[in-house]
Amino acid sequence: MTVTLDTDWADVLAFHAEAGVDVAIGEAAIDRFAESAAEAARARSQPAPPAAKPPAAAQPPRPAAPSLPAPVGPALVNQAPDAAAMAAREAAREARSLEALRAIMEGFEGCALKKTASRLVFADGNPQAQVMFVGEAPGREEDEQGLPFVGRSGRLLDLMLAAIGLDRTRAYIANVIPWRPPGNRTPTPQETAICLPFIRRQIELANPEVLVCLGGPSAQALLGTLEGITRLRGRFMDFDTGTRTVRAIATFHPAYLLRTPAGKRLAWRDMLAVEAALAERAAGASS
Ligand code: URA
Repeated sequence: MTVTLDTDWADVLAFHAEAGVDVAIGEAAIDRFAESAAEAARARSQPAPPAAKPPAAAQPPRPAAPSLPAPVGPALVNQAPDAAAMAAREAAREARSLEALRAIMEGFEGCALKKTASRLVFADGNPQAQVMFVGEAPGREEDEQGLPFVGRSGRLLDLMLAAIGLDRTRAYIANVIPWRPPGNRTPTPQETAICLPFIRRQIELANPEVLVCLGGPSAQALLGTLEGITRLRGRFMDFDTGTRTVRAIATFHPAYLLRTPAGKRLAWRDMLAVEAALAERAAGASS
């Protein structure tokens, strides 16, 4: 790309920021136009494929190709989302601890979001806590720090926790998607399907008494429903980890509450329901 000297760089930056390009993920700029021109030139210089042969009479049947194990390296990114989701399920199942799960996710190459994110955002808080909060996906600050909910929504989440006497030493926090989608775009259903086995396993291993889904996308992905958050929130449902049933509730996402303060009244009620459920469990455990 040729840029003339009178380019207004503020406009160029504003254009990128509006398009969601707010971090540099490489040291050197990549000229995608040159890449595709080279690709086209390469294709033109390839010899034409040989003409199809007429079918040979009475050819002996070919032996079946041996079945190969699923690729586990970078090639997975270009695979069908179903294959990547299956690889994620198998990989997640291998994890015997949260630390093992984190290591498996660090090495997983099946989700293209990993390529554009700076790092994995695995969890924050106390994995032994009785309550686990799950959001949708990391934003810019989370991507920079490798921790969930550390930006503006995180500060509101901390206030929501404090409202029921909790802080990050008494809550465990993660996201359905552990890699920041570029420009904070909405994760695709395929990306969610690929990441889902990891968060499900993370919940199973953390084994909380109460699970709180923050926002519609988290609730829909974890509770397997298409219902909107306004209808879903505030009611306890069962989340089946595969080994036990956890009481789960959805509430508004803090980012939504920042935009729609009127929703705080209902979110407050949901947090009180979480507090009551935790107290009930504690009473049950001590009796
Ligand atoms: N929003 C989320 O859903 N998760 C984060 O970690 C931050 C913002």
